[in-house]
Amino acid sequence: MVRGVLPPGPAAPAAVQTIEWVVRPTDLLRRSAARYGEPFTLRTLWADAPMVLVSDPETIKRVYAAPEDVLRGGASSTVLEPFAGSSSILLTSGEEHLRQRKLMLPPFHGKRMEAHRATVASLADAEVARWTPGRPLRTLPRMQELTLDVILRVVLGTPDPRLRDAIRAALDMTTSLPRLIALSLAPRGSAPWRPFTAAVERVDALLRAAIRERRASPGGGVIDELIAAGAGEDELRDQVVTLLAAGHETTAGSLAWACERLARHPDVVARLREDGDAYLEATVKEVLRVRPVLTVTPRKVVAPFRLGAWTLPPGVHVTPCLYLAHRRAELWPDPTAFHPERFLDGAPAPYSWLPFGGGTRRCAGAAFATMELHEVLRAVVRRFDLVPDRPEGERMRRRGVTLPPARGGRIVPLACARRRSRLGTSL
Ligand code: HEM
Repeated sequence: MVRGVLPPGPAAPAAVQTIEWVVRPTDLLRRSAARYGEPFTLRTLWADAPMVLVSDPETIKRVYAAPEDVLRGGASSTVLEPFAGSSSILLTSGEEHLRQRKLMLPPFHGKRMEAHRATVASLADAEVARWTPGRPLRTLPRMQELTLDVILRVVLGTPDPRLRDAIRAALDMTTSLPRLIALSLAPRGSAPWRPFTAAVERVDALLRAAIRERRASPGGGVIDELIAAGAGEDELRDQVVTLLAAGHETTAGSLAWACERLARHPDVVARLREDGDAYLEATVKEVLRVRPVLTVTPRKVVAPFRLGAWTLPPGVHVTPCLYLAHRRAELWPDPTAFHPERFLDGAPAPYSWLPFGGGTRRCAGAAFATMELHEVLRAVVRRFDLVPDRPEGERMRRRGVTLPPARGGRIVPLACARRRSRLGTSL
């Protein structure tokens, strides 16, 4: 039972706030911050208790640095359980979580990550080579297929088309907003959940078959290490599903945003071709700042947590809001503008740029995702100029837990040479 006074927030019932969280997530965040100031409290059915949102760097630092007996990660992510499973790294905490992190971080860092760079670059090039110049393209589904292919190879050692299709089928069920609203409002196990549960069961059956095969003959993926570390079948299933889902949906959404933004900023594309890696790095950082596909990284309050005039009681959730942190005008002049140059003048202020969250739960695949974003964007701008199919930018629209472009990152790729002659510039 949660007692005590919480920071102000919308008074609408939790069901109404849940619908807004699904249908107009960024409006809800902006409107609440403007009306109530920060921190503010939202009540949705995605969590078992109210969620208090913060976005100033000092408070975010305190949240990410708090020990697990004060703020607990994992305990706030139960919304992910129907797909990720209860022993997923996203849901565990304490010693168990640290053990899982030690196992799952090394394959996605350093030399082991670098070993995948050439494969990512060649898969990206093959993908982009299939684009037809002049024909409008929704980049999101293309990027989903590409990034899922990449992560399947890394985790299972081989692409597995049937598993790939089953994972996409399950995740695509959270694309339709009416269905997502129904899933968010209905108790688990009730009628609206049945098609999703059936899709997850299909993923499970294929995955358990893949696990049995791998036990019999290791295939050179991260799964072999999880098996060697003694993970049981249920845990293996949960970690592999987590890596496959967390490891591609976010990256695909960010890549679709990159295409959507670049199509509206030909100057950035031109500079990407002229400048070296520093500008590419800055562009990727700016995409992740201005369009963070995950907006919150909640932690559950276990022992009373001071937040300015408030003391948050055990049971509620407190969360850095990445979306609002990335739009603070005192930290990011002209915050809504897409301006990669802002990252060329040195590192951003601590705890102001957080697309990968922070602390002991910071994204395990951040370095890998960044490498993928670099290689795919390199492949895109090497071959194409991008123009928007409509001048106005796309809205951030919820699909499951991520917020990719509402119309799927629609662009028209134009062969560079054609554009060069049209504009008479040298690229
Ligand atoms: C642009 C792409 C990505 C973004 C924006 C992103 C963002 C995030 C965020 C915000 C979190 C929560 C952090 C927190 O609670 O503080 C997270 C967790 C996680 N991510 Fe990513 N991610 C991306 C790509 C990836 C990839 C490619 C992988 C796998 C290779 C991955 C694996 C994970 C895992 C395993 C966790 C859970 C970490 C833990 O709880 O200890 N992510 N990610």
